[in-house]
Amino acid sequence: MTTVTAQIPLHEHVQSFVRTPRKMLIDGRWLDARSGKSFLTYNPATSGVLAQVAEGDRDDVNQAVAAARKAFEKGPWRKLTASERGKLIWKLADLLESHAEEFAQLESLDNGKPVGVARAADVPLAVDLFRYMAGWATKIEGHTIPISVPYTPGAQYLAYTLREPVGVVAQIIPWNFPLLMAAWKLGPALAAGCTVVLKPAEQTPLSALRLGELICEAGFPDGVVNVVSGFGETTGAALAAHPDVDKVAFTGSTEVGKLILGAAAGNLKKVSLELGGKSPNIVCKDADVDASIPGVSNAIFFNHGQCCCAGSRLFVEKGIFDKVIEGVAADAKKIKVGPGMDPTTQMGPLVSDEQQRRVLSYLESGFSQGAKAVVGGHKLGDKGYFVEPTVLVDTKQDMKVMQEEIFGPVVCAMPFTDVEEVLPAANNSIYGLAAAVWTRDISKAHRIAAELRAGTVWINCYNILDAALPFGGYKQSGWGREMGHDALELYTEVKAVTVRL
Ligand code: NAI
Ligand code: MG
Repeated sequence: MTTVTAQIPLHEHVQSFVRTPRKMLIDGRWLDARSGKSFLTYNPATSGVLAQVAEGDRDDVNQAVAAARKAFEKGPWRKLTASERGKLIWKLADLLESHAEEFAQLESLDNGKPVGVARAADVPLAVDLFRYMAGWATKIEGHTIPISVPYTPGAQYLAYTLREPVGVVAQIIPWNFPLLMAAWKLGPALAAGCTVVLKPAEQTPLSALRLGELICEAGFPDGVVNVVSGFGETTGAALAAHPDVDKVAFTGSTEVGKLILGAAAGNLKKVSLELGGKSPNIVCKDADVDASIPGVSNAIFFNHGQCCCAGSRLFVEKGIFDKVIEGVAADAKKIKVGPGMDPTTQMGPLVSDEQQRRVLSYLESGFSQGAKAVVGGHKLGDKGYFVEPTVLVDTKQDMKVMQEEIFGPVVCAMPFTDVEEVLPAANNSIYGLAAAVWTRDISKAHRIAAELRAGTVWINCYNILDAALPFGGYKQSGWGREMGHDALELYTEVKAVTVRL
């Protein structure tokens, strides 16, 4: 890690935004926590305090849910046409785009990611998601269905379905893509006509709170979107258990996903979950090896490995194993690790000291079970939460590092002999979020794609995500699909209406 930190100048709005204690958005107003409590967020590049944020708890959640309920049942939102809803979402996208630099900086400061990555990926993807979902508002349709009803001979009916908003939605999001996760959640909920209480992660609340300001500026009616900042065990848990919330959408750890499910049981609220992953990345001997090496590196090192779909288990066919590992290790060595606000940084710090400790303890566990680091394997520097990009070899299926989500820049590599051997190995996981295969043989590629138990399969590419493509998990990677038109199903109920003619 270089110690030179040519930081970009702070955008003036970002400067004032982080200097002022941040309040929560409830019913169109910016409020302190009822308890008066606040918490601090830290700059992961320095461990220094970044901002002070209102700490919501049960009382604030109750108030926010009541505001969302009122906005859903009685507010003007309910009476807006689909076209008017779509226009508001589109306007939010425009506003976000016009404040792109501010959001890229906030995201870099709060999460640690390189500002260049936030500019190129997080912000434009969020803008695109809102635009895509704005278009769906006017296309949420039911069907007319011919029915026979044998026990009423001679009667005639007209039957049709309506797709209606599910109601008040709680959305709990993580810290790895704070703005983008807010967009993935809010976009379809608003397109469908729901009202929302959004809880950003305690590590990274700033971009969601700034987005709340743009939501007000766009003209969404009061109470349609409420943003309550706070901790998982308090604010998050209160939302998941709230009896007046109709649906909870969660992205985060599988462990907390199970808690959400339990909490939701009280009123049987609908649940969608986007959880962990341990995605296999399979490189076959007949692949374009020169293209697959940067692909494999990007699969694990993008966003410092803090991606639920990170390609964290690398299977390489014997014969090209050494070449691929050498290539990925060379890429890892070249990555410029540093503060996110240095424009030349390619990899920033992990999000928190907790996350750094977690990743380092996985490395120790891997070493103690016999894995070796070809490159990396340690923390970097003595301030901030940096970890070296790491390639582990001599790994075995039953090692903790091969089975559990590390959520850091650590890839575990294993050689394989043939497709028959690698498929069960690739599917040997409690997770099933994503997977990839690199080969020039198109039949083999599609055969493998069909056999992989994962919600996303990439062929000769990785981390290709689009607002139009559904994303979500098989097995313990979750329930439901985000993005694409599938996401609308999470936020709508189907009503069958039958008319006797
Ligand atoms: P987490 O699952 O605890 O946090 C995610 C969100 O859930 C945050 O907003 C948090 O405040 C909230 N939360 C936490 N406990 C809650 C509870 N009891 N009820 C309701 N909401 C709650 O994730 P954490 O602790 O930050 O990271 C732990 C591991 O989770 C990571 O190492 C990684 O493996 C995984 N993770 C996966 C993500 C994904 O995109 N699928 C994102 C973040 C973490
Ligand atoms: Mg946690």
